[in-house]
Amino acid sequence: MGRKVILDVDPGIDDAMAICLALGNPDLDVVAVTAVGGNVSPAQATRNVQAIIEQLDPPRWPRLGAASEPDNRLAVDRCGLYGSDGLGESGFVVAERQHLLPSEKVIWDQVRDAPHAVTIICLGPLTNIARVFLRDPEVATLVDRIIMTGGTVSGPGNITPAAEFNMYCDPISAQVVFRSPSTKTLIPLDVTNRVELCYDVFNKLPEESTRVGRLMRQLLPHAFRGYRRQFGLEGIHIHDTLTLMAAVRPELFTTKPMAGDVETQGELTIGQTIFDRRRVPAWRHNMEVAVEMQKEAVIDAILTGLKNDPHSTGGPA
Ligand code: RIB
Ligand code: CA
Repeated sequence: MGRKVILDVDPGIDDAMAICLALGNPDLDVVAVTAVGGNVSPAQATRNVQAIIEQLDPPRWPRLGAASEPDNRLAVDRCGLYGSDGLGESGFVVAERQHLLPSEKVIWDQVRDAPHAVTIICLGPLTNIARVFLRDPEVATLVDRIIMTGGTVSGPGNITPAAEFNMYCDPISAQVVFRSPSTKTLIPLDVTNRVELCYDVFNKLPEESTRVGRLMRQLLPHAFRGYRRQFGLEGIHIHDTLTLMAAVRPELFTTKPMAGDVETQGELTIGQTIFDRRRVPAWRHNMEVAVEMQKEAVIDAILTGLKNDPHSTGGPA
């Protein structure tokens, strides 16, 4: 059996690409995909998770979790980047499925069933993870590792001058997770901003006849338009896809132990991730933070990985 992973996502086109990679990776056993509000509302994130999984229809479906309203969400508008539905106005029809359990319940069940064996890959705000840790603090020590997209070490934010989107959306939950005793790895904007996929990616995607090839061709054009319109860029960032790669190909990333926390009050700095980099730090190291990435090798691994069709490989090993 492959490495058990949970994907906690707020799709989001880069989330969708990460889900494609994870489900096609024979070394991963994606036991759950749990929705969280962020790029879109909790209800839309839940629909988008169902839509993506239906489009990919993996041989063995992961458990799906439904996002719920966070207790401390900051309002943000990401429509410009990924569309009002978060998936490039793709308009996927979602089969009305049986009632989904809340994401935090699905996560709790999976970790309790397999202590020290589940990696949680967090690609959105940390609302669900904080809820699990607050309701059952022991679970923070039972998760094998949490690998998160987000934050900045010394670079600017992307939703305010100080804050990265995932941390800004729910800074109180982010602080709960940062301060938890869980084993954590953070993939910050300082690293993920270094990759901009250009339009030639369309020549390197899987055939349109494949599920992944079809889905990526439906979603990516909107992301390119959004990045051109909002930032004047001729390429797109794929933050979450890089975080997924840090989980499956850690040797392509360099991390260092750091002491991090999250600002939850500042009028201008709320959601900012702060690291104690003083010569004699007073804060205790509480996570590994990515500082370098073998960019070309990572991009090659992404394009190769997208071609792994679980239907041809028969799903996870
Ligand atoms: O800041 C990058 C993060 O914000 C990514 O997870 C992207 O999907 C958006 O949620
Ligand atoms: Ca995301």
